[in-house]
Amino acid sequence: MAASRGEFSSRFGFIMAAAGSAVGLGNIWGFPTQAASNGGAAFLLVYLVLAFSLAYPALMAELIIGRHAHANAVNALRLISNSGPVRTIGATTGVIGFIVASLILSFYAIVAGWMIAHFLASGAELLSLDGASQWLTEFGFGRNILFMVLFMALTIGIISEGVTAGIERWSARLMPLLLITLLALVLYVLTLDGAMDGLKVYLLPDFERALSPTLIISALGAAFFSLSLGVGTMLIYGSYINDNENLPVVGGLVTLVDICIAVVAGFLVLPAMYVAVFNGVEIFAADGALISGDTLIFTVLPELFTTMGMAGVVVSLVFFFLMSIAALTSSISMLEVPVAYTIEEHGLGRKKAVLLIGAAITLVSTVILMNFGQLFGLVISITTQYSQPLLGFMFCIFAGWVWHRDNLLQELRKGNPDAENTLFWKIWPWYVRVVCPVIILAIFAQTLFG
Ligand code: PFF
Repeated sequence: MAASRGEFSSRFGFIMAAAGSAVGLGNIWGFPTQAASNGGAAFLLVYLVLAFSLAYPALMAELIIGRHAHANAVNALRLISNSGPVRTIGATTGVIGFIVASLILSFYAIVAGWMIAHFLASGAELLSLDGASQWLTEFGFGRNILFMVLFMALTIGIISEGVTAGIERWSARLMPLLLITLLALVLYVLTLDGAMDGLKVYLLPDFERALSPTLIISALGAAFFSLSLGVGTMLIYGSYINDNENLPVVGGLVTLVDICIAVVAGFLVLPAMYVAVFNGVEIFAADGALISGDTLIFTVLPELFTTMGMAGVVVSLVFFFLMSIAALTSSISMLEVPVAYTIEEHGLGRKKAVLLIGAAITLVSTVILMNFGQLFGLVISITTQYSQPLLGFMFCIFAGWVWHRDNLLQELRKGNPDAENTLFWKIWPWYVRVVCPVIILAIFAQTLFG
């Protein structure tokens, strides 16, 4: 029942929670790393175009379906379809979504664990515990598993408290601080030797490269990953918003905040890379490819912090602390997807469901860590590059074709009596019906057959 499901207590609470889900490792680890491996500015350009033209409309599809149904993705997609086979496809899409959300969490917890380890390493350094600090920053199985488990335990702990008590309270706090720290670091890095080379790479696009199918599909995945799309996270969050909110506006704000933080993070990471190169750190292999792209920021950012002397240790402490929190506000939104489904579908108590699913995901993360070379990159590319955009495609199809148009428009009217006169009203319903699915399919066709 809607009343017992919990609701965000305010618009601010929702925006902070949804932005908390969106802003995470995707912005500061994923986007800059991919931009760095894909020619910088060309990637930035394609990412921006796709984020506004595809990810935002797809986000709106999830939010609107979610608020209408006040249910998890499986039930919501069932509710808006009326005939048998379509209902089954809807339910299947929802189930695949929650499997993908769980798989994303399984690699996310590993990277988030690295953030916590680097945070503690800075603490150890402040206390002159050099041995501990070195162990914490070195890539090793023991460290990796310990901090992955710790991160999962934190996620499980928060999610067992429930939506308004857990998610909202945790999300609203530290995001502004993260943005301020990022901006301060950007200003600092730009004063260092080598930074201008990075800035050029980030801002001067090679237009030919922008048309490469691999770049486009990576940028599409990055945009969908960054906005937490396709897996039902935003649908669930939409289901907790009350009917007085103007969804296109709040969805737009979330999109802006998210993209803005990714772009700012790029202004930090790309110049930091070239500062590191200037200082003799090897980042590129002979063929120009990045050495260990996945752990890039764990090399170049600590390198940047060391240029600040002792102050750098404190900055590093603050930075990795904020990153760990940003990762946590995203991971709780991922775990909420399978948890909400299990509670509502199978009648399990919240605590039991959280423990059961959390333990299963921790197990998957362990398997990935034991086969890091083979599985880590593979799970990331299957979930983010392929599954998220394809599931996003399904949400667009459901919003645009399956859902009765009158009901969709009625939902859009909520929270905005003047909805008919807005640009969103005039464009979005057909855009999500035709343009989004066609472009997503075209991008996949080009990658597979181009
Ligand atoms: N958007 C998050 C980030 O950029 O770090 C990642 C994410 C969260 C993906 C929630 C999917 C999801 F359901």
